[in-house]
Amino acid sequence: MLKGRSLLEPMDFTTSELEELFQLADKIIECPQKYTKACEGKLMATLFYEPSTRTRFSFEAAMLRLGGQVIGFSEPNSSSVAKGESISDTIRTVACYVDLAVMRHPKEGAPKVAHLSTDMPVINAGDGGHQHPTQTLTDLLTIKKEKGHFDNLTVGLCGDLKFGRTVHSLIKALSRYNNIKFILISPEELRLPNYVIKEVLIKNNIEFKEVQKMEEVIHDLDILYMTRVQRERFFNEEDYIRLKDRYILDLEKMRLAREDMIVLHPLPRVNEIAVEVDSDPRALYFKQAKYGMFIRMALIMSVLGVTC
Ligand code: NCD
Repeated sequence: MLKGRSLLEPMDFTTSELEELFQLADKIIECPQKYTKACEGKLMATLFYEPSTRTRFSFEAAMLRLGGQVIGFSEPNSSSVAKGESISDTIRTVACYVDLAVMRHPKEGAPKVAHLSTDMPVINAGDGGHQHPTQTLTDLLTIKKEKGHFDNLTVGLCGDLKFGRTVHSLIKALSRYNNIKFILISPEELRLPNYVIKEVLIKNNIEFKEVQKMEEVIHDLDILYMTRVQRERFFNEEDYIRLKDRYILDLEKMRLAREDMIVLHPLPRVNEIAVEVDSDPRALYFKQAKYGMFIRMALIMSVLGVTC
């Protein structure tokens, strides 16, 4: 039962709870008109202390499409945060008015602080370079719909594996399935953090290798997960400029990949995927963004305990 639960990181839900969410998302995709009143009378707050397009809009669209309503901010300076209010006080106040809160924050652990301060469900919509569990739900639903299963996949993750929170969450979530292999493609400076390597990959005996050249491994992949270099988490602009265009997926590289490989990206894209790749049938990132709304509809219904 997911009713009343918070989602702070992917492991908060078991694989069978995830399966329930995927099944509900499937039903919603098949017949969205059946759900237009599912959350009537419910209110969700979106507390976004960092920029967002897909995550906030897909959450808000999800709630509105379920017949619920939304309040919130996307510019923390317009709220009492600007007066120095703590996360704990903000969430306790917001909980007086709404049934569910979705929070994005630059500080790792901020949504957890919010969760510990209230009984209301809190959803982590990205905390610094740490976790982004609802992007992972989106990624998993896309994989399930497009590949049909999670077992026996070779997944290439490319770009900023150090600061990319979507990568950290996806690796954690996929580590629970059978015979998953990861190929980690990044420059030395943007390697996957040691804590993820030790606590997730080595601890669970998962096969992985770290490489610097995409061309060498692209043919082996079932999934290529591209990421943006996370400019906002760099200490200096020169390093960002030096690293930002290290990987650019173009049609020439796509020719080296298998016909059934799929390309995912949490978006926003900067330069790491050439626009010419968009029309390749293996490029699924905009479809992935759409799945994101459906899985968030399923998540909202489940944590609010509404059925239909
Ligand atoms: C990601 C994020 O915010 O971490 N975006 C998203 O939510 N779809 C990826 C990114 O910003 O690069």
